[in-house]
Amino acid sequence: MTESTMTASTSTCARPVFPSGFLWGGALAANQCEGAWNIGGKGLSVADATTHKPDLDPTDYQAAHSITTADIEAAIAYEGTGIYAKRRGNDFYHRYLEDLDLMQEMGFKTLRVSIQWTRLFPTGQEQEPNPEGVAFYHRLFRAMVERGIEPLVTLHHYEQPLALSVHRRGWYDREMIDLFLRFCRVCFTEYSTYVRYWLTFNEIDSIFRHPFTTAGIVLDQFGSLDGEQVIYQALHHQLVAAAQAAILMRELAPGAQMGCMLTRTLHYPMTCHPEDCLIAQRTNRENYLYSDVQVLGEYPRWLLNEWERKGISVQMGQADLDAIRAGTVDFVSFSYYMSMVSTRDDTAMPKVSGNLTSGAKNPYLEVTEWNWQIDPQGLRFSLIDLYDRYRLPLFIVENGVGAKDQLVDGTVQDQYRIEYFRQHISQIGLAIAEGAVVMGYTPWGCIDIVSMSTCQMSKRYGFVYVDADDAGGGSYDRFRKRSFSWYQRVIATNGAELGDLDQLHAVAVSRHPAMERMQSTW
Ligand code: BG6
Repeated sequence: MTESTMTASTSTCARPVFPSGFLWGGALAANQCEGAWNIGGKGLSVADATTHKPDLDPTDYQAAHSITTADIEAAIAYEGTGIYAKRRGNDFYHRYLEDLDLMQEMGFKTLRVSIQWTRLFPTGQEQEPNPEGVAFYHRLFRAMVERGIEPLVTLHHYEQPLALSVHRRGWYDREMIDLFLRFCRVCFTEYSTYVRYWLTFNEIDSIFRHPFTTAGIVLDQFGSLDGEQVIYQALHHQLVAAAQAAILMRELAPGAQMGCMLTRTLHYPMTCHPEDCLIAQRTNRENYLYSDVQVLGEYPRWLLNEWERKGISVQMGQADLDAIRAGTVDFVSFSYYMSMVSTRDDTAMPKVSGNLTSGAKNPYLEVTEWNWQIDPQGLRFSLIDLYDRYRLPLFIVENGVGAKDQLVDGTVQDQYRIEYFRQHISQIGLAIAEGAVVMGYTPWGCIDIVSMSTCQMSKRYGFVYVDADDAGGGSYDRFRKRSFSWYQRVIATNGAELGDLDQLHAVAVSRHPAMERMQSTW
């Protein structure tokens, strides 16, 4: 896709015009949707050890995600699904044909999915892949392609084998690189006839926010070793593995493209005080660290200085640095859910949290029911900023609003979701008009799946409602929400028809009090 294929508009009021071939679709992660945790020879993954804790404040993410060795032992000993909601997912493993039919009906051009490492290598240490696992993804990708849906595939979405947290120390162990590349080799060899777009590590930056799910790291295994030292070492191994995976893909699947995947959390300065601005700049730079390495092929000088200042010593050889330089990415993908505010003193300020991070509340923005700050214009800001920084095509591979939907008469009147997407898609169009090159847009959890952070089914993102509750009850039948036909129309018109904003506001306001407050900020 080139800039010449786009029709530009500089007016902020104009309807966005998306390039032809724009990849509209949706996004899922295998560990949150497939279920079938012990079917087809699958091994336990880190996701299968994370739990829904109904007694915890759902916004208390740190507590919800602090995993100990004892938790892992309990998870291994437990043979059902119970509080391990990701073991159930939404039953995509058995219902993927029905789900793909619904996505085809919506007009999806692409679907982001991941391949569970533990279906192919149940403990991550086998020499040969599990044939049943290999066959499942053949069936899945073939069914997608038959429906005209291009697979966009994540190789590592919080689902590495749990055994590697027990017998190794997660990604802290250098050997993880080779084990992961063995898995990647099978993926590229088996599936490159269907897959053109690959992503290595989902939200690679989340290693600091939740090291267990991102890197299999259980901090109580490291004795007196400094936590930051452990995480930087593990991160280095992931960055080398990502670069080597890109090199391997080019060898085994010529013509395919590799992307990095970042959680884009935009930080605004709270005031124009220069110190606030400097803090925001530093926080944004920390957020960009990961894509900087994966796009520019080297560690930034500021990080090397910081390691030196803090006495952090990351073991790496010249071959690692050469791989990082050679294995840069073809495009930049990212999730976008919220912006944050940086200030020199936030002690007295109200806080927001979300996506396992927290910060000062932006007084101009509203939040979702889970306290995630909603900022459509921040998406436009991020697209422009990322494109100016890297000059590579961008792919928004996650965006959406988690909400408590009500199924009434076989549908959900989710005008609030339509409104959320309408605003975000408008801003993407405006970013394109301002020069950003955007390949596609895949809203998160396009069919309801288990929440990553809270393990709830009741935190719903989809255009399709899944009749399942937090405890695993329900028929698991699928129902089209109102947003289903709205998104279908958006795709059919290539983003030209986003609906009548005033009309949508009127309905949304009567449906959802948070939206009433929110609309005044738009
Ligand atoms: C992203 C993750 O950070 O946020 C997804 O890549 C996750 O796995 C999504 O599901 C939404 O978060 P949550 O916690 O609401 O499911």
